[in-house]
Amino acid sequence: MAMEITRRSLLNGILLGTASMTVSPTVLSMVGPNPSIVRLSANENPYGPSSNALKAAAQASNKGAYYPGKIAAELMQMIADKNKLEVNQVAISSGSNEALSAAVVGWGKEGQIISPSFTYDLHLGYAQRIGTKVLRVPLDNDMSIDLDAMQAAVDKSVSMVYLCNPNNPTGKTIDGDTLRKFCRAVGKKVTVLVDEAYNELTDNPEYTSMVDLVREGENVIVMRTFSKLYGMAGMRVGYALGRKDLIKKVRNHIMAWPNIVGLAAAHACYNENDFIEYSIDKINQGRDLVNEVFIQQGIEPLPSETNFVLADIGRDVKDFEIRMRQENILVHRAYSLYPNHLRVSMGKMEDLREFAEVFKRVYNS
Ligand SMILES: Cc1ncc(COP(=O)(O)O)c(C=O)c1O
Repeated sequence: MAMEITRRSLLNGILLGTASMTVSPTVLSMVGPNPSIVRLSANENPYGPSSNALKAAAQASNKGAYYPGKIAAELMQMIADKNKLEVNQVAISSGSNEALSAAVVGWGKEGQIISPSFTYDLHLGYAQRIGTKVLRVPLDNDMSIDLDAMQAAVDKSVSMVYLCNPNNPTGKTIDGDTLRKFCRAVGKKVTVLVDEAYNELTDNPEYTSMVDLVREGENVIVMRTFSKLYGMAGMRVGYALGRKDLIKKVRNHIMAWPNIVGLAAAHACYNENDFIEYSIDKINQGRDLVNEVFIQQGIEPLPSETNFVLADIGRDVKDFEIRMRQENILVHRAYSLYPNHLRVSMGKMEDLREFAEVFKRVYNS
């Protein structure tokens, strides 16, 4: 009985936004950034999860922590329907990073993986640590992914080409039809893994996405996530879309399935168009502000269609980042390949205004 009351009051607390009254402040202080810190370093989205996703998460966890069952199947069906695919063309995973890792393990056993030199690469590092060779192809002079060079690098030793569109950390988007042509040509030889973590934030998501090639049965896998647009990074839900045989191979290598709380939240917000529009709008407002901050200082940011902006600030980011951190603003650490390029993720508008003030001060001191 006492247990029942505690659970119910916890749920009510969460739903009423008063969870801090029932959860120890010490525990809460370990979740997310410290309130005195502005975290603009991890491409998160503080405008999510949607209130419906939060309610679903609270109510799902209030039922107990059973293994996920029907909810996973149901979410996969929703994803399949939205993308006009069969359910066996969808795999869900604990964040898209898990599906990416599963893919590089599956294909890495059969040959080298080609990727751009400057891209999201947690899964590529993982592949290397377990013995797969990763061939990194330099970006071109304007920091775009060099598709010609990547295509030219494909030979019999290669099993997969990975790229990310829009690319992280540049934020740049490859034109949809240009990438389609590349995928069709390269897909004749090896599987192309297109990471679309930020697709929904692009100016023209449908044109930019390679999901149509999946529908056509091309040798292409598309990865998506609930971490960015839906603001659910800590809830760990991502998914892969591909031909049946390719998805079977991804599924066979997945180790970490999503959890019931994340699944319930994802199910609640996947088709929540009002929230989706709100989230995109907030991210775009933030991006305009950050771009403006750079431009005012004579810095030209790279054109981004994501929730982050990269800019060459003309000085070593290593020191700059530390000085920003001393003022409680976290931006991404320096990149070894491009030591003068600073990446700033979107935060709430009030956080970005604080960033703007500190950036100007540190930059001009
Ligand atoms: C391009 C890209 N792919 C995948 C991920 C992994 O996202 P998650 O595992 O949270 O879905 C990220 C995270 O920043 C990313 O930037």
